Amino acid sequence: MFKRSAVLSRQLKQVSSRLYSSQAIGSYNGQLNKNGNYLATLIPGNGIGPEISDAVVKIFKAAKVPIEWETVEVTPIIENGVTTIPKPAYESMMKTKIALKGPLMTPIGKGFVSLNLLLRRTFNLYANLRPCKSIPGYKTHYDNVDTVLIRENTEGEYSGIEHEVVDGVMQSIKLITYPASLRVAKFAFEYAIASGRNDVTVVHKANIMKLSDGLFLKACEDVGAQYPNVKLTNILLDRACLEIVQNPDNYAKTVMVMPNLYGDILSDMCAGLIGGLGLTPSGNIGKDASIFESVHGTAPDIAGKNLANPTALILSSCMMLTHMNLHSKAEQIRNATLSTIGEGKVLTGDLGGNSTCTEFTDAIIYNL
Ligand SMILES: NC(=O)c1ccc[n+]([C@@H]2O[C@H](COP(=O)([O-])OP(=O)(O)OC[C@H]3O[C@@H](n4cnc5c(N)ncnc54)[C@H](O)[C@@H]3O)[C@@H](O)[C@H]2O)c1
Repeated sequence: MFKRSAVLSRQLKQVSSRLYSSQAIGSYNGQLNKNGNYLATLIPGNGIGPEISDAVVKIFKAAKVPIEWETVEVTPIIENGVTTIPKPAYESMMKTKIALKGPLMTPIGKGFVSLNLLLRRTFNLYANLRPCKSIPGYKTHYDNVDTVLIRENTEGEYSGIEHEVVDGVMQSIKLITYPASLRVAKFAFEYAIASGRNDVTVVHKANIMKLSDGLFLKACEDVGAQYPNVKLTNILLDRACLEIVQNPDNYAKTVMVMPNLYGDILSDMCAGLIGGLGLTPSGNIGKDASIFESVHGTAPDIAGKNLANPTALILSSCMMLTHMNLHSKAEQIRNATLSTIGEGKVLTGDLGGNSTCTEFTDAIIYNL
């Protein structure tokens, strides 16, 4: 019954070549150039990407952040039948090891490879760090959200191994490997210590997916044995969703770590609690490089209209600065952004205001 196609064999081969080194925390070792600046790659992306990227560039300039941008496009090319990112983008990333990226559009349907997945795999960006915190002064149903979610970024349900078994029956394989689970778990424990939370919660469905999620949970427990001072608990995904929306307080002291798809969905849910996707940043941390980006997509409904909220990308750029040890610049820009929102005078439409992306950006610059 099971038809193992040539495509599936190729996909499995690609996956096994993706088994990774166990080095956990991505580090940044960039050097200042002759102008006294670090070089960083900027991928403006699609839809609202160029507008919100422009906002960050403008703010960095005003805050005199010592960064020179190398702007590249990542429109995919096909090389020997395989979708790859263009050479200039690849070379820039390999040189700078750090990038800020706008959202990229992924067409739905057959034959399209997700560029986001391609970037994560090409640069081994194995941990997706997604903090989500209520903004003082900006009223939502909750004022106590402070979650940190770490999503395994390279496999799980996003392995891209799908095939037709027989006519009318499709199969999608969720791949969980011990090495990939180990290294994201290690990242979670290191992050728990670095952030002072000293507490890790594994989110899973090992009651149903006993082998795959069971292996993920075991890897987390094995790593946990090496960190006796960090508390380790685990919870089923559905229960975690319920508890977070009932009382986010209980999740303000832990670092959640989970397989790929769960992290994708749970982070959007957390974003909804603090005011929407326009506010949540993320970092894709890897062995070879790191890419920082907003959680949201290209927002085609408002693209090109100067209506986008650039906050998520600005906060992502602050995570990037922290990763580069430029802490005071990160804090300055983060504070200016959050206080602009907290003041409530200049807000974009998604936050209930009627200011443009440009007006909001200028207000942040004024508050720097
Ligand atoms: N990391 C990425 O590059 C990434 C992530 C998610 C989705 N996508 C892609 O983006 C495209 C559109 O996806 P979607 O419509 O499902 O999700 P989306 O996040 O683009 O938009 C969802 C809703 O949120 C609003 N929104 C999102 N960001 C906003 C912002 N900064 N300011 C104001 N409003 C904002 C949009 O207007 C829309 O109403 C798809 O092709 C998808 O594959 C890319």
